[in-house]
Amino acid sequence: MICENDVKILREKQDLPDDKLKSLLSTDEFDLVLAKNADEVRRENYGSDVYIRGLIEFTNHCKNNCLYCGVRRGNSDAQRYRLGKSDILACCDEGYALGFRTFVLQGGEDPHYTDEVLCEIVSSIKKKYPDCAVTLSAGERSKESYKKLFEAGADRYLLRHETANVEHYGKLHPAEMSLENRKKCLFELKKIGYQVGSGFMVGSPYQTNDNIVEDLRFLQKLQPDMIGIGPFIRHSKTPLGEFENGSVEMTLRLISILRLMFPKALIPATTALGTLKNDGRELGLKSGANVVMPNLSPVENRRKYEIYENKICLGDEAAQCIECLKSRVKSVGYNIVVDVGNAKTKE
Ligand code: 5AD
Ligand code: FES
Repeated sequence: MICENDVKILREKQDLPDDKLKSLLSTDEFDLVLAKNADEVRRENYGSDVYIRGLIEFTNHCKNNCLYCGVRRGNSDAQRYRLGKSDILACCDEGYALGFRTFVLQGGEDPHYTDEVLCEIVSSIKKKYPDCAVTLSAGERSKESYKKLFEAGADRYLLRHETANVEHYGKLHPAEMSLENRKKCLFELKKIGYQVGSGFMVGSPYQTNDNIVEDLRFLQKLQPDMIGIGPFIRHSKTPLGEFENGSVEMTLRLISILRLMFPKALIPATTALGTLKNDGRELGLKSGANVVMPNLSPVENRRKYEIYENKICLGDEAAQCIECLKSRVKSVGYNIVVDVGNAKTKE
């Protein structure tokens, strides 16, 4: 049982001491008190609105070799693809007609997308759809690169920190990657003026509850506009492919804790949640999440963007996906809105 008084304090102060936070994580059963408080706070800030982001997985080439990720360069079984500007614009056309006002370009760290190539893509989208936000999720780049992309019109950048603990980071990533650089990128992005999203995997190999508390503390420092968390899901073609999947219930608990700590943040009910449990995203919304990110990638590429196995929505056209999501969102008492969906953090 969790202590109701701790939840009350967390809601009032948006904070708790480490040991109290840890006690909220001590079991991973779904907790109604936590979820109910989180839902009330989400409704105070966002009503029943759910924002949608059209996810365009533009490349699965990646120069990195993260130990958990199915598109790591070391996975020689992955069939690689890249989308060009016209493919990406076609996804946006379809998405715009369906009511999307944010496009998220997500991909591996692919050197093919130089600043020049990516800036041209971003500015073409912004030119055609000035009422839409463009979000990039393209990994670690230089400060100069982030600046150029911002000047080309990118509004937001998603870069999960993955774990805020150096030793843990080292167990999930090869030696050439560093937590220090990841954090540096996040603070640079913020300084340039992007709306920034960060986050981490829940139940990733070797993760402890102390690590999770460190993640929460890091997020308090960063104060991101968006916080994405999802359960770790093993991919058999990676070095961490034998580990257990993360827990859906722990992810839901953390969504609620995040909502109470960051009342105005954008928190997605992630595809990973929906992958591990049929109604995982609905439960995510009920636990305090307020964003869903349906897939707008061309259907023929979706299977290839396999960061983890058994990902959902592989066969559905974008139109089918959004219809399905609309009814799922409605079934738990919320509504998808046609809106650019900025965080209320800046108000
Ligand atoms: N399981 C769950 N999430 C994963 N990601 C990468 N690999 C996995 C996995 N095996 C997440 C990372 C990354 C985001 C795009 O997907 O957190 O930042
Ligand atoms: Fe591509 Fe980690 S394997 S960013």
